[in-house]
Amino acid sequence: MEMEKLVSLCKRRGFLFQSSEIYGGLNGFWDYGPLGVELKRNIKDAWWQDMVTSHDELTVAEGAPSTHEMTGLDCTIIMHPQVWKCSGHFDLFCDMMVDCRAEGCKGRFRVDHVATSQCPLKPSKSPGEHGKCDLTEPREFNLMFKTIVGAMGTEEDAAFLRPETAQGIFVNFKNVVDSTRVRIPFGIAQMGKSFRNEITPRNFTFRSREFEQMEIEFFCHPDTSREWYEYWRDRRMKWYTELGLSSERLRLREHDADELSHYSCGTADIEYAFPFLTEGEYGELEGIAHRGDFDLRSHMEGKLVKNAEGCLEVEMGPDGKPKYKGSGRDLNYRDDQTNERFTPHVIEPSAGADRATLAFLCEAYTEDEAPDDKGKLKTRVVMKFHPRIAPIKAAVFPLVKKDGMPEIARDIYRALKKALHRVLRRKGRGGPPLSPPGRGRHTLLRHRRRPNAYRPDRHHPRPRLAQAMAREGRGCGRGNLQPRQLRSSRDSRS
Ligand code: GAP
Repeated sequence: MEMEKLVSLCKRRGFLFQSSEIYGGLNGFWDYGPLGVELKRNIKDAWWQDMVTSHDELTVAEGAPSTHEMTGLDCTIIMHPQVWKCSGHFDLFCDMMVDCRAEGCKGRFRVDHVATSQCPLKPSKSPGEHGKCDLTEPREFNLMFKTIVGAMGTEEDAAFLRPETAQGIFVNFKNVVDSTRVRIPFGIAQMGKSFRNEITPRNFTFRSREFEQMEIEFFCHPDTSREWYEYWRDRRMKWYTELGLSSERLRLREHDADELSHYSCGTADIEYAFPFLTEGEYGELEGIAHRGDFDLRSHMEGKLVKNAEGCLEVEMGPDGKPKYKGSGRDLNYRDDQTNERFTPHVIEPSAGADRATLAFLCEAYTEDEAPDDKGKLKTRVVMKFHPRIAPIKAAVFPLVKKDGMPEIARDIYRALKKALHRVLRRKGRGGPPLSPPGRGRHTLLRHRRRPNAYRPDRHHPRPRLAQAMAREGRGCGRGNLQPRQLRSSRDSRS
């Protein structure tokens, strides 16, 4: 599938629009349209339901070392600036970039993207390849968006939009333990917006400046942390295949030892073969990281660095005092049954809601051929989503305007509406309106169907409407904080 076709379908059918499009758009920002918002919400709901609300804490999950508990949190986007100093983001969440000083260019490029970026000068070449190109030396660029809290507008009031949701969980660890009855091992899940001032946002929503994350911080005893890491790595991989991503396009990639953060004893990425990548390349959907006790210790003691012996210690400033002081709060855990006190280890499955949505869109896009109303074979697009995430699950089409059919259809609509809540209305092409009389619109309902059951060309008594519906994607079917100053050609990783 060519990516241009999907991008065009997303705009035409209301999955995704460029943000502020009427003003020329804003690079790296995307709006979800009527179908897109339902799709993304279904994906987030499926994640929350599968990871948190439906979790059975009495049963040992397949592959898990023991039972565990799961709970949720919803933290603010702007947090105390010290959070980002102790976490390391303030100093280290950087990409290396170069600027081009040439007239007519003045572009800014991520160093590891230069080879695949396009210089604005014509003919098309990569930055540095034109005679006129005048690139600066590489320098660091912090990806956190800065803002000001309060009316004074001074540097002391500077704050940051969170670049990950994870830190909100770490700083609330004690609150959750003290206010609930959770016992280790347990996980805290959070989903919400994150912001990164990416130098080169690209590939549709894949690398955006505003995006949503779905993150779990799983707290466990250090002795069982490796087993929990393996459990989460496999559990998260399964989640994507259960929702319809084909295993041929997905892969689980364990990081090599030289890719691992200084405190990590394992990190794996779940990657998808997005169509905008060249054959054999994969893009990250989710990272599962073993973070040891790094995060809780950082927020207790202050920003940590690795010493000559390879151990973590508080980084000192030129005055011999901690460079960034931690909260000083005790974030250790005491097991009330064994009385053991320890700093929990953390396993972090960190997913992107927008990347998952993009992968499900790519997977759903299918072209086939069906006869039009004159019997001529035409290529059409069918979006084949898993029923759980499909934005539209059913449609009601009364066949005739007489013999009480509209009334029956309206009753079916009302019954389905109660069960399914969400209703899509669109201006009718044929068939009487199902929406309240006088509004002159069709109402298409979504209804749960068995995967593979929907074949509009075969089953639908009104082929034109069915084809239109299928074209519009309404058929349902099968559905570490490693210092960032030098980031790989892959993603920024928090
Ligand atoms: N707390 C760990 C963390 O944030 P990450 O690998 O930097 O780890 C996790 O981000 C996930 O967030 C990625 O796997 C990806 O799905 C998503 N993500 C990261 N940067 C993104 C961006 N610029 N645009 C869209 N999604 C992004």
